[in-house]
Amino acid sequence: MKEHLTIVNHPLVQHKLTLMRERKTSTAVFRQLLREISMLLAYEVTRDLAMTTRSIETPLQEMESPTLQGKKLALVSILRAGNGLLDGVLELIPSARVGFVGLYRDEETLQPVQYYFKVPTELQDRKVIAVDPMLATGNSSVAAIDLLKGAGAIDIRFLCLSATPEGVARMKEAHPDVPIVTASLDEKLNNIGYILPGLGDAGDRMFGTK
Ligand code: URA
Repeated sequence: MKEHLTIVNHPLVQHKLTLMRERKTSTAVFRQLLREISMLLAYEVTRDLAMTTRSIETPLQEMESPTLQGKKLALVSILRAGNGLLDGVLELIPSARVGFVGLYRDEETLQPVQYYFKVPTELQDRKVIAVDPMLATGNSSVAAIDLLKGAGAIDIRFLCLSATPEGVARMKEAHPDVPIVTASLDEKLNNIGYILPGLGDAGDRMFGTK
């Protein structure tokens, strides 16, 4: 991908995001919309995947037909909200390998601390798509990408629903080689790290925990 930041302005993406932002949208509807929007975002984030061809036989004749090149993609969910995006992306790319990164914020240092890390093998040979709906401060996203690079990943892209200018700048500074694909660039962070206007706590909204 050439651009560091891609905002997916497709009308269906924007329409669904509006519905997701609304306070009154129920957990069930939020989840359904998340699944749908994830598939549309997956379409965009994979737009430039390398292709090759292979010989196939149609019922009528042989042909050289396009097919994805290289090893299976690795999708990496940044827990826990990443799992909501992961489901829809996996529906579109069912043979992708899947990893998980768990991070929590240390209340004293305010720095992300790893509590879980399990990723597919041969990460260095795969395109990696890290998924997390909200790119807010960028702290956990940067830490997750640090861990993925530490595990060998070279070709990483980051997929989210909503990003802040602060989060994008933090990612660009730490990982200029990691393109970001988002449905929206929102206005800013509030003083407790929530995105404005945003959609609230993505994990709570998708899992109904509040
Ligand atoms: N995480 C969320 O779930 N929502 C925000 O607004 C910011 C971070």
